Amino acid sequence: MSALNTGSIDMRLISPDEIEQMISLWHEAGLPSKPGGRDTVESLREQLANDPDLFIGAFDRERMIGAIIGSDDGRKGWVNRLAVVPDKRRSGVASRLLERCEEALRRRGRQIICTLIENDNDYSERLFTSKGYKRENEIIYYAKRDADDI
Ligand SMILES: CC(C)(COP(=O)(O)OP(=O)(O)OC[C@H]1O[C@@H](n2cnc3c(N)ncnc32)[C@H](O)[C@@H]1OP(=O)(O)O)[C@@H](O)C(=O)NCCC(=O)NCCS
Repeated sequence: MSALNTGSIDMRLISPDEIEQMISLWHEAGLPSKPGGRDTVESLREQLANDPDLFIGAFDRERMIGAIIGSDDGRKGWVNRLAVVPDKRRSGVASRLLERCEEALRRRGRQIICTLIENDNDYSERLFTSKGYKRENEIIYYAKRDADDI
């Protein structure tokens, strides 16, 4: 059970120099990324330059142990790429990252915050449900991609 026992964990914005560390964290966490498109180092640095307030990391001293990326399409806020390393899970790190990201999106005026969860990701579904997110059953996600790996 998560006791939000994350007192020694520092939550702060991710710097451009820490993008590679964030990608390594995704690998360690088993989070699939899109190496050919929006998840390249160059693309992520560009996103961070546009939205520096929406790249948030959890740090145990120098080690990045969790991260989240928010995005703002001007109508809704989105939370993306939430990941925590396996050895630091179930202690509330993802919950704190999510709260920080929601605060940043609300500061931008977003009143709806959304996320996309893969069908078989039960832990993630439980996490978002426990934080007040409601499944929109009538929506089916469609995407038109210029390549498979983006
Ligand atoms: C999903 C993930 C981010 C959760 O990180 P975390 O720091 O362990 O999450 P928290 O400790 O804040 O958990 C908050 C709540 O989420 C739910 N939850 C999270 N992990 C769970 C698990 N393994 N089993 C059951 N419930 C879980 C619980 O309701 C939990 O509250 P509780 O501990 O009081 O029961 C982490 O497991 C992860 O990185 N998974 C791989 C990447 C991924 O799937 N990311 C989500 C993409 S949308």
